[in-house]
Amino acid sequence: MTHLFHLDSSVRAEGSRSRKLSAHYAERWRAANPDGSVTYRDLSADPIPHLDVAAVSMDWDTERRNADQAAARVLSEQLAGEVLSADTVLIGMPLYNFGPPSTFKAWLDRMAVRGLTIGALGDKEFVVVTARGGGYGPGSPREGWDHREPWLRHVLEMLGVNDPIFVETELTLARESPAMAELNLGDAEDQSLAVALATIDGLFDNNDGLAA
Ligand SMILES: Cc1cc2nc3c(=O)[nH]c(=O)nc-3n(C[C@H](O)[C@H](O)[C@H](O)COP(=O)(O)O)c2cc1C
Repeated sequence: MTHLFHLDSSVRAEGSRSRKLSAHYAERWRAANPDGSVTYRDLSADPIPHLDVAAVSMDWDTERRNADQAAARVLSEQLAGEVLSADTVLIGMPLYNFGPPSTFKAWLDRMAVRGLTIGALGDKEFVVVTARGGGYGPGSPREGWDHREPWLRHVLEMLGVNDPIFVETELTLARESPAMAELNLGDAEDQSLAVALATIDGLFDNNDGLAA
């Protein structure tokens, strides 16, 4: 049976654009895969503990793990299992201080394990839907400051993922932030969101085998 693993990482339960995009993708995926199943993980509601010494040493001597190492291994196997059992992995991710949310990094550091997931995800489709408050397009003063996508592309390559799909919406603070309000970028914000939603629709409507 086709399976989707859907993960969100915005701290916002309401008003989140990355959650809006991931929910839209999941809705389209469900419609395209009526017999499919979905697992959902919310890293804000249910954060994964940061890496600790038990986690980094859990596989050093697999015959003699202490209780903390054994517990760390169980958690990594659970997180890896959620990804390994999926055909499609959908990630919703905001930009926080020019990088991913720390909750996402904590999840990844425990999910990316040699012998479990590293080099093992070549048969998965990865779709990353992202939101950022400012504008980072070509020629903008902060072009290249959004380090999520280049970083995550390297991580996904290490995991064996081929051709991950990234869908971005930006300028989400155009109306919300008093500092940006005077720039009158509300229309550009709406346009960016519309393009992102249409891009997701295109993954399904083009019937290119990516999402159905
Ligand atoms: C702690 C924090 C740090 C942020 N850092 C940035 C940033 O570096 N660049 C940026 O463009 N927006 C930044 N933002 C704005 C978010 O990227 C923006 O609100 C985005 O829409 C959040 O995703 P969400 O809508 O899914 O919650 C930050 C927001 C928070 C809460």
